[in-house]
Amino acid sequence: MVLSKAFRHLRLLDRERQERAPLFEAIRHYCSLDKAPFHTPGHKQGRGISPELLAFLGENVFRADLTELPEVDNLHDPDGVILEAQALAAEAYRADRSWFLVNGSTCGVETLVMSVCDPGDKILLPRNCHKSAIAGVILSGAIPAYIEPDFDIELGIAHGITPAGLEKALQAHPDAKGVLVVSPTYYGVCCDLQSLAGIAHSHGLPLLVDEAHGPHFAFHPELPLSALEAGADLVVQSTHKVISGMTQASLLHLKGSRVDPNRVRNILQLLQSTSPNYVLMMSLDVARRQMALQGETLLGQTLALADQARSRLNRIPGIRCFGPERIGSTPGFYDFDRTRLTVTVSGLGWFGFDAHDWVNEHFHVQPEMSTLHNVVFIVSIGNTQRDIDRLVASFTALSEQGSPQSQAMTDKMQRLAQLRPPSLPPQRLSPRQAFFAPIHRIPFQEAVGHICAEIISPYPPGIPILVPGEEVTQEAVDYLLLVHEAGGFINGPEDVRLQTLKVVQ
Ligand SMILES: Cc1ncc(COP(=O)(O)O)c(C=O)c1O
Repeated sequence: MVLSKAFRHLRLLDRERQERAPLFEAIRHYCSLDKAPFHTPGHKQGRGISPELLAFLGENVFRADLTELPEVDNLHDPDGVILEAQALAAEAYRADRSWFLVNGSTCGVETLVMSVCDPGDKILLPRNCHKSAIAGVILSGAIPAYIEPDFDIELGIAHGITPAGLEKALQAHPDAKGVLVVSPTYYGVCCDLQSLAGIAHSHGLPLLVDEAHGPHFAFHPELPLSALEAGADLVVQSTHKVISGMTQASLLHLKGSRVDPNRVRNILQLLQSTSPNYVLMMSLDVARRQMALQGETLLGQTLALADQARSRLNRIPGIRCFGPERIGSTPGFYDFDRTRLTVTVSGLGWFGFDAHDWVNEHFHVQPEMSTLHNVVFIVSIGNTQRDIDRLVASFTALSEQGSPQSQAMTDKMQRLAQLRPPSLPPQRLSPRQAFFAPIHRIPFQEAVGHICAEIISPYPPGIPILVPGEEVTQEAVDYLLLVHEAGGFINGPEDVRLQTLKVVQ
């Protein structure tokens, strides 16, 4: 059973070893030494920094801002404290190898694709993947074969891909070299990763998981099964998004022998800076220790706060905040991270975008993101009861406001939300060919039949409608114009007003 498996995992951790934070300890020790520094960075442990910045940030952040010195190891070729710190992360997450990332999960997701695809190789990936997966496709020269995610019309959001969807995609693309999935989604919804891993492996393919929003799963039995425990081969997690890594600090984990660790290492050398930030890496070391030793307690408190917020929000007239009761309601909704709150405001005649701005302006409640219907909140180990009270108070007040939209506008958006996204356009060039091809800008309305050179990903539906290399169809143009006219949010293209489009010459 899923929960007991995660629980066993926690019991098996060697707590004594996990007490260590070798990189943090080495940096702290180095900062206590009196050295004459003739190396980068030029501020020399804060001595040359502007006094105003020093006063604001404090001394230690600059003292710890070191470079590859023998005492603190080298990220690209570690044989000391970074090697040890990465090994402890691998142990905590039950991986065979873990790598510290200082360029966010973006470079991790790029590595997922580049680790299994040579130029011209095919990769299966969900259409609602993060744009870093498309970047990985462009960098590698891979050919994407998209799997359409399960789309939840009621909530206006896309969920994960289903085992049946993967089977079908594999029949259509038996030459694929790997399967990439996103789980959980931004809304905390998880795929059936165990089944997806079984299917991918039965075809001899690695399962690559963008688990950017799930770095906490391995540390509490009431959270969904982590990708590594479900059988994934290569997994990226944004330690900074949900647990306590500093922004840009992420982890990449490898398990098993389907992906070559030397290739992963070479790709990371290509994608990451030769001057990785030691403050970020130190935060990864300590975030792992914190989760290994206190994760269950801290995440238990987080779950309790999020559960309380969800039930209070659901008592506010017109507001809905879905929870685990939706598990199994649609095939792409296999499991759920209860710490994620998606507050649906469409019942009040509000758009998620406007509600996002309103709660921020009037209550200083800062959401993570919003969609047409929803406002999304990340509840984490850093939140307090006071935060939850303010969140609930802000939506109580919002529900007492009238709808800010005219009825005609609300009706238009509601109709739009009921539309299914257009079918996938034909792929004429690989994303890499389109990205590097000579391009020009033409009026949007005249783009039908041309090859698109940019990503266009509107809300709704939060899925790319056009990706570089795809033929612009009349269906895609009509849909995008409809979203734009109705006040939806156009993400991706240079001209977000959709007057022009970049196409291949
Ligand atoms: C699902 C998903 N994958 C990858 C990323 C990229 O992560 P990072 O911001 O750490 O580079 C994001 C960022 O929002 C994301 O939501």
